[in-house]
Amino acid sequence: MCGIIGYIGNNVEQKLLKGLEKLEYRGYDSAGLCVLRHGNFYVEKSKGSVEKLREKTCVKSEFGLGIAHTRWATHGKITIENAHPHFSSKGEVALVHNGIIENFEELKSALEEKGVYFYGETDSEVAAKLLSGRLSLKKIQNLVKKIKGTYAFAIISKKNNSIYFAKNKSPLYVAIGKDCSMIASDPSCFVGACDSFYPVDDGEYGKLDLKKVVFIDKHDKVVLKKSKKLDIDYFVDGKNGYEHFMLKEIYESKNVLGNIIQNYSSPLYKKLLEKVTEIDFNRVYFVGCGTAYHAGLIGQRYFMNNIKKDVFCERASEFSYQNRILDQKSLCVFISQSGETIDTIASLDYAKRCGAKIVSITNVSYSTIACKADINLPIFAGPEIAVASTKAFVGQCAVLFLLSKVLSGQNYIDDLVSLKEDLDFGDDEKLKRFAKKLASEDKVLFIGRGFDYITSLEASLKLKEISYINSIVEPSGELKHGPIALVEEGTILVVLATESELFIKTINNAYETKSRGAKLCLVTNQIVTETIQKEFDYVFKVKNTTSELMPVQTIVLLQKLAYYVAVTKKTNPDKPRNLAKSVTVE
Ligand code: AGP
Repeated sequence: MCGIIGYIGNNVEQKLLKGLEKLEYRGYDSAGLCVLRHGNFYVEKSKGSVEKLREKTCVKSEFGLGIAHTRWATHGKITIENAHPHFSSKGEVALVHNGIIENFEELKSALEEKGVYFYGETDSEVAAKLLSGRLSLKKIQNLVKKIKGTYAFAIISKKNNSIYFAKNKSPLYVAIGKDCSMIASDPSCFVGACDSFYPVDDGEYGKLDLKKVVFIDKHDKVVLKKSKKLDIDYFVDGKNGYEHFMLKEIYESKNVLGNIIQNYSSPLYKKLLEKVTEIDFNRVYFVGCGTAYHAGLIGQRYFMNNIKKDVFCERASEFSYQNRILDQKSLCVFISQSGETIDTIASLDYAKRCGAKIVSITNVSYSTIACKADINLPIFAGPEIAVASTKAFVGQCAVLFLLSKVLSGQNYIDDLVSLKEDLDFGDDEKLKRFAKKLASEDKVLFIGRGFDYITSLEASLKLKEISYINSIVEPSGELKHGPIALVEEGTILVVLATESELFIKTINNAYETKSRGAKLCLVTNQIVTETIQKEFDYVFKVKNTTSELMPVQTIVLLQKLAYYVAVTKKTNPDKPRNLAKSVTVE
């Protein structure tokens, strides 16, 4: 998943760099830009963050056009040669790409047989080598006909004064302002320059000039599009005084719950929920990746508790490769913060082909998944910048909770209101002390039963992805069937026990590890007797709330714990190594 941007107007370098900063959540292994003025290219590339590229770039105010790219490496190492933009053989065409060209080896060897030299290892360079000289819509049409896979291209040539583009399954948007025009992987790049934008659809290609844009569809017909208003409030900037976006976004969970309560109490969204109740289904699939998958597991339990139907939850990367019963009586709920995760898009397309009804729960209403769904239920979380998903998980659980209640004809607002009022982010000093202890560990074990097992999965993912600690999760009852062998003197065991009827069982499972040298940390809303207190090295009491919403109350505490561990280890909680915010490669 990479970010691409193109700009026509004054101060091209500055505008490209500013746009790349907004796209860095899509990958930050390397960055580069290419600006065309008076028939010549000015090119800069850097390994690492956009800041490194900014340090090297000589900015000019005069009019020009340019393209830029921030990379999450898929094909080829993180080197300057592999950084985009990539160039045609004679260097007169420059191209940036987000996606995966699946047939790049075949194309590359055909070109090499004709004597074409490749300076890098990427699939994207192959696309650039398929182009030359003056660009035209015909040439772009020929390019996309040769390519199999996913792409968002922005392409310029020394012989043209336009930006050419093409899109298939990787996000791409175009905007025309009063004194500039832009193309980007995310409309947030248009804030401040344009007040409306056009989504580019799969199979479309076209040409962008300063004042006009031409869209051609996959049948090579000109398409006239309606622009969408840019919701400026959505794209808020800045950390509001927090050191990292992640901590700010953890605390924003309270606002997210408020937004959900307010919006889903309004006639507009109540009507949307009613539309879901009109769907005739006899089985439900929740589908997502990572945190969104964990939210799906929570949703599955909500539906099991409230709706008497068969309910399943699948990882999107597995879903379309199973022979599941999928037909007109299947309701598929796709969960995705970005709405651009390609595994989830592929699963949605598969479910659609099987005739299933499609509901999506997303944080980006103009995203691919939101637009493909029959009904999209927003989580109103606002931009989530940190790679580690926090407030979005809270929003996903809240919307799944209200969906399960609406489908079973129950009230949902009161429980959400009390959760929002009582949401407690824990004792900072206590969390920091335990984080200091965890930071020196290379292995941490989480256990829990029922909802607590799912919350453990999510807490463990946070720890893994931002502090790089090998964090393992086991259902408490499974320990003695093998995983307890992992326990050695000093192993940290984090025990989640918020479900009263499972509390004693889980405590006893923890004792089994204590006798083998484990250090125990208890996270619970239950009464902690003196005996239990004596056995546990750390105890975190979480505020009680509706049992089905305890995962939300518990996770905000554990998100903060993971954050403090990362800060102690001096990793970058907002941009952890090897990751990106939106995974647009399968
Ligand atoms: C979560 O912290 C990770 N960033 C990752 O697992 C993420 O949840 C996953 O890639 C799904 O992203 P999506 O919600 O945008 O589809």
